[in-house]
Amino acid sequence: MVFQPTRGNLPARFGPGVPNVPPIGPATLDAEVYRDPERYEQERIKVLNRSWQIICRSEQIADPGDHHVWEGHGESIVITRRPDGGLDGFHNVCPHRGARIVAESGTDARRFTCKWHNWTFTTAGKVSGVPDRPDFDRKRLEGLCSPAVDVDEWGGWVWAVLAGPGVAGPLKDWIAAEVRDDLAAFRMEEMKLVEKVEWVVDVNWKVAIDAFSEYYHAQALHNMGGKEAKDARHSTIHVHGRNGMYFVPFLGVLEDLQRTLDHTRYAICNYQLFPTAVANCQALHTQVFRAVPLGVTKTRFEAWELRYELEEGDDPEYLRQVDFFWEIYKAVVQEDVDEWTDVAATTQSSAYHTNILSERECVITHFHRVVDDMLAGGDGLGLEPKPVDEETVES
Ligand code: FES
Ligand SMILES: [Fe+2]
Repeated sequence: MVFQPTRGNLPARFGPGVPNVPPIGPATLDAEVYRDPERYEQERIKVLNRSWQIICRSEQIADPGDHHVWEGHGESIVITRRPDGGLDGFHNVCPHRGARIVAESGTDARRFTCKWHNWTFTTAGKVSGVPDRPDFDRKRLEGLCSPAVDVDEWGGWVWAVLAGPGVAGPLKDWIAAEVRDDLAAFRMEEMKLVEKVEWVVDVNWKVAIDAFSEYYHAQALHNMGGKEAKDARHSTIHVHGRNGMYFVPFLGVLEDLQRTLDHTRYAICNYQLFPTAVANCQALHTQVFRAVPLGVTKTRFEAWELRYELEEGDDPEYLRQVDFFWEIYKAVVQEDVDEWTDVAATTQSSAYHTNILSERECVITHFHRVVDDMLAGGDGLGLEPKPVDEETVES
């Protein structure tokens, strides 16, 4: 049987006692967060490099010597699969004169050679060979390595922290437990990559993350029907730790959802994985959207489509269904991406000062508060609103 996610012991996301929105309320957001070059530089150092980010699928570097070169926000890194099954990761920057060591992803590497002057490196990034070594200061070369990145795997994804081991704590604690456990019900680690689609867009990376952190735009931009829009009013939104998540009933199953309370089966489950990814899970298949910042107003936007494996005897109709819905989904994502050309056209406008956010856009509000906190030197935690009754008790 093709795997079918179920709610199991997860908390109910719908039904009695589950509010539609957390008590964050409407808010405003300064447009400078999308266009200030100095702020972008600070985000690179204090947010992007100090966070766990998705790099690639584990299956892309399955065997010893397989390696993945990843580039974004001015950084270049290499992740390699070790013979013991673990991963090594290091900055793809030659300590001789700064060239990129490895040009592209590949398989079966035993060592890497920087082609400018043929310095060689172990697959963990340690300098192992220097032509004409006696010509150099011996002390400068002793134990020389390219700086390590922290690397780990979860959900079938390879993740990395570019500022190095220990900076962001363990990966398992990076995503809030409530969000991580909910997302885990979809078993992304058992899924296979169907397709990855990329766009380069002239907007700040946060525009893309914002766009996938609310459902408000679906009615207008994606021409959602009246009944669907009415059911979508029953969606629920939650923030925990640095993350947000929301659940939107599928069309025509509101009664089933209210009866079973199984959101993994009857709702679109959307998980924001701070800072640069959003997982959009449905019982049938999952999309992961990943924003890779390239400049203050330039972003590589990636959509990854994942499906479950067929076992022997399973009905291949599942594959046809996945293909059918993924084609529809791609067209919907194209509408989102196209919309950003309108955002790009006015980013620098003298008339653009503020975003006005509704209470149902509160995952965006929370996300920007986490970014602000990390820019100020914090860890982005503890910013969720307290439940209303706790506040009442205190005051
Ligand atoms: S820059 Fe790499 S060997 Fe010289
Ligand atoms: Fe959309």
